[in-house]
Amino acid sequence: MKKQSRLRAMKKRQRMFLLAVVAWIVFGAVSALAILSWTAEEDPGVTVRVTPAALSEVAVEGEAVFNANCAECHGPNAAGTNLGPPLIHDIYNPGHHSDQAFYLAAANGVRAHHWPYGDMPAQSEVSYDEVTLVIRYIRELQEANGIVAKSY
Ligand code: HEC
Repeated sequence: MKKQSRLRAMKKRQRMFLLAVVAWIVFGAVSALAILSWTAEEDPGVTVRVTPAALSEVAVEGEAVFNANCAECHGPNAAGTNLGPPLIHDIYNPGHHSDQAFYLAAANGVRAHHWPYGDMPAQSEVSYDEVTLVIRYIRELQEANGIVAKSY
């Protein structure tokens, strides 16, 4: 009889221990998930406030090309998203990133070097002439937002 109740007590302790372990694992998993989703919200997306500009006809065409091919990452008004940087940014003033940088970026893609977003894939569906339109759009938006050529 005594032995049996000792056995029962032992089993009870074992069950409590198991329960504690399970609770600990569940708690750990829930906190890991919470931290993960929190860091996902805190991703490195950099966006800037861009004042839309009165665009030339060429720039309006460029805007359409941009919205179809580039805005997914660079954002509407090239203000940036969590997939790509804002191009209406002093880094991309014409003195630091000439028009050539745009042709090269579209043709070959870009290796991540300024930002933590990763590489930009080549946009081979966008032709040279379309990039010319996009450049006009970006330059006009830059100028309207006070981003002008600086010499380096
Ligand atoms: C899939 C996302 C993505 C798309 C689509 C995309 N880009 Fe990018 N782009 C990036 C990222 C990310 C960078 C930043 C790389 C770095 O410097 O770290 C970048 C950088 C650039 C740069 C800077 C190049 C340099 O020399 O530093 C230019 C210019 C550019 N993009 C233009 C464009 C144009 C024009 C389009 C559309 C035809 C486009 N991008 C579409 C993600 C994208």
